[in-house]
Formats: sequence, C-alpha cells, structure tokens
Amino acid sequence: MVSQITRIEARNYKSLEQVDVALGPFTVLVGPNGSGKTNLLSVLRFVRDAARFGIEDALRTRGGFDRIKRQDGKQGRVTLTLHGNVTSHASTGAPDRYQLSLGTSKGEVTRREEFTYKRMAGQGRRITLSANETAVARIAADGSDQSAQTRRLASSTTTMLGTFAQLNDDEVGRGPSDFLDFLTDIRYLDPAVREARVPSRLQRGSIDDSASNLSAALYELSRVDPDGLEALTRDLRDCLPGLEAIEFRQGGGSAETVVVSLVEAGLTRPIDLADASFGTVRLLALLTALHEPNPPALTVIEEVDHGLHPYALDVLVGRMREASKRTQLLVASHSPTLVNRLEANEIVVCDRDAESGESIIPSRSAAEIAAAVEESGYLPGELWFSGSLGGVPN
Ligand SMILES: Nc1ncnc2c1ncn2[C@@H]1O[C@H](COP(=O)(O)OP(=O)(O)OP(=O)(O)O)[C@@H](O)[C@H]1O
Ligand SMILES: [Mg+2]
Repeated sequence: MVSQITRIEARNYKSLEQVDVALGPFTVLVGPNGSGKTNLLSVLRFVRDAARFGIEDALRTRGGFDRIKRQDGKQGRVTLTLHGNVTSHASTGAPDRYQLSLGTSKGEVTRREEFTYKRMAGQGRRITLSANETAVARIAADGSDQSAQTRRLASSTTTMLGTFAQLNDDEVGRGPSDFLDFLTDIRYLDPAVREARVPSRLQRGSIDDSASNLSAALYELSRVDPDGLEALTRDLRDCLPGLEAIEFRQGGGSAETVVVSLVEAGLTRPIDLADASFGTVRLLALLTALHEPNPPALTVIEEVDHGLHPYALDVLVGRMREASKRTQLLVASHSPTLVNRLEANEIVVCDRDAESGESIIPSRSAAEIAAAVEESGYLPGELWFSGSLGGVPN
C-alpha cells in the first residue's frame, strides 16, 4: 500500500482557526482567493521543513511564531496534527498520528510533540511517544507511564521524530524513522517558470519544488526511464499543437549543463525552453514530476491549472489520477474545467467566514457534493462555479 496522509487537523494556524480535512489519494482544493487553500497546503510544508531542518529553522525562515499563529488577538497554541497510514504496521483502524504543537511562554517558543503508531504487526496496541521541550517521555496509548525512563532530546531544536529515528532501537522500532522519512520527502511543487527556463547543471535526482532544475530532471528521466519520457512526450503532444519531440544537448559554460529544447512542426531548429511559452514550460514541469518513476510518497501542487488551457487540464487530470497510485496528490485549483473531471470525494471546497476571517474547510462534505451532482445533473465544476456548492466569493 502506498503511504498516505488521511487527515490534516490544524488549530490556530494562519487562517485555519480549526479545520479537520480528510484526504484521499487525489484531492483538489477549490475556493475563493484568500480562503485558506495555500495555508492548508503549507501545513505540510511547515511540518516537512521542521522534519528536515528543525523546528527553530522552520519558524525562522517564516519570520517567527507570530507569522504562523492566527492573528486574532488571542493567546493560544498552534497545533498541527497529521493522521495517516505511513509506518509498516499502520492500518485504517490503527493509523499513525503525529502532532506538533507550538506556543509561547515568557517570550520563548515552546513545543510539544506526540507520535502514535503501531510498533509491531498483529494485535498489539499503538504506543505514543511524546516530547516536551527538553525531555522525551514514553507513555502508553491510555496515557499511563510505560517506562520511567526519559531521554533527553539530541537537540532542543530538532523534532522528536528525528531523535527517536536516531535511536531506532528494539523498543521504538522503525516507526519514527519511517514517519520522519515520509515527512522529509514531501514535495511541494510550485514551479517558478523563469527559473525553470534556465539550463541546469547536470545532476542526478528529481525535480525540485520550484522546478529550477527542470532541464536536469527531464534529462534524468530520459536516462532512467525512456518509456516515461516517451509517455510524457505523448501527453505534451496532446496539449501543444505541432509539438513533435523533446531534445537534449550539452550547454556551454564551465559547469556541465543540459539544455532542453522542443522540436516543433514547421521550424528548422528546435526551440530552447528559454523561448518556449509560459504554459509549455509550466506543463513540462508538472508532467516531469508526475511521470517520475519513484516519486515521493506525497506531492503537493500549488495552483495546478495556472497558465494552462482547459484541454491541457483534461490531460493533466488523467495524469494526476494515474500518478496518485504512486504519490498521494494534494493540489489547489481555480478551474471549473478541472473540477468537472473530478469525483465528489476528490473535491474539497474551501470557504472563509466573512466576519471572523477563519477558513471553513471543507465547507461541504463529499456526500453533500455527490448528492448535489446527482440531483442537478450538472458536472461538479459547473455546480461549484454556479455557487451552489459554496467556495465562491459572496
Ligand atoms: N497569521 C495569520 N493570521 C490570520 N490570518 C492569516 C494569517 N496569515 C495569513 N492569513 C490569512 O490567510 C489569507 C491567505 O490565505 P491563502 O493564501 O491560504 O489563500 P488561498 O485560498 O490560497 O488564495 P489564492 O487562491 O489567492 O491563492 C490571507 O488573506 C489572510 O487573511
Ligand atoms: Mg493560494
């Protein structure tokens, strides 16, 4: 089974006063500007960065605790909780649960963490590891103390998962390290087309969040999975009239670089990405991530439809659904055309309370969306655009 996050809860985080959002293998967030789609996606990026670089660093790069805390004039902790099936013995009945809670005390940021998982196969109960600021205590699922032992965190800035992952002993098993790996691997794709046009240094590895290494990532795909590149090229031909092939050549300069160019009908020489259209480059970045043979377990995509023709979105939805067998996909979109192609349980409608400013996510249950589609005979995107599912400006 592919690892996946099944639920995100957030409290007091930016506009997310209190939300509890169920996720499937492929989930699309829709809703007005400022309704909290990016804020929800960024919960995953925050937890990822905390897992990668430590909590302090994740806070610092965001401008501090006050920037992530909901600015409602009230005291309170920011609490982010992920539920999922990630570790080896997790199941729907016994999911993994990771909670990171941040607050302030005497001007300092304090944190609490909790990780609940099943350590062994079979009947055994889940166990909970917890950490406060400096000490790590082990407690049972029912809250009772299981061991008198407390261990100091390796560093007060790293996540508890990181500390336990290092221990990796018989007592804790592989749970914390598996969950840590899952978090650190999360991809948050938000292609920066200007950067993606630039020839990149030859390097192994996959596309980065801003697609600044698009050329190298595409070249890598052509090397490790020629069939994947062929399939990608077919997708591209379905979207771009006259596109024939993708070519690679070595670039100039001191470092070894790779230049990607597109063979187009009617032209005597291929067009480098530097001269390709905005939508072409962006589509290429998305398809490169979606065709990767070994993608990370979870891929987040910001504004997936940005710059793309409605017909290209048809191709993209098919590709995302197919890719979601290998990487869980959570994306934001503003496109009714894209939403028309979705099942009710793939749509999460986001709204925002006009008075309090808090995000209401989801503002409709999947069952309500399914019933509305069934009753009306309209496609889900049409219904959403008409306003009858919410998720439109008032
Ligand atoms: N610290 C904070 N406290 C309260 N609200 C915040 C905080 N930071 C940001 N916000 C709110 O979050 C809103 C932005 O939400 P977000 O970026 O998630 O919107 P979005 O749904 O992605 O919109 P778009 O479609 O335009 O990208 C801001 O307009 C602001 O009202
Ligand atoms: Mg946004």
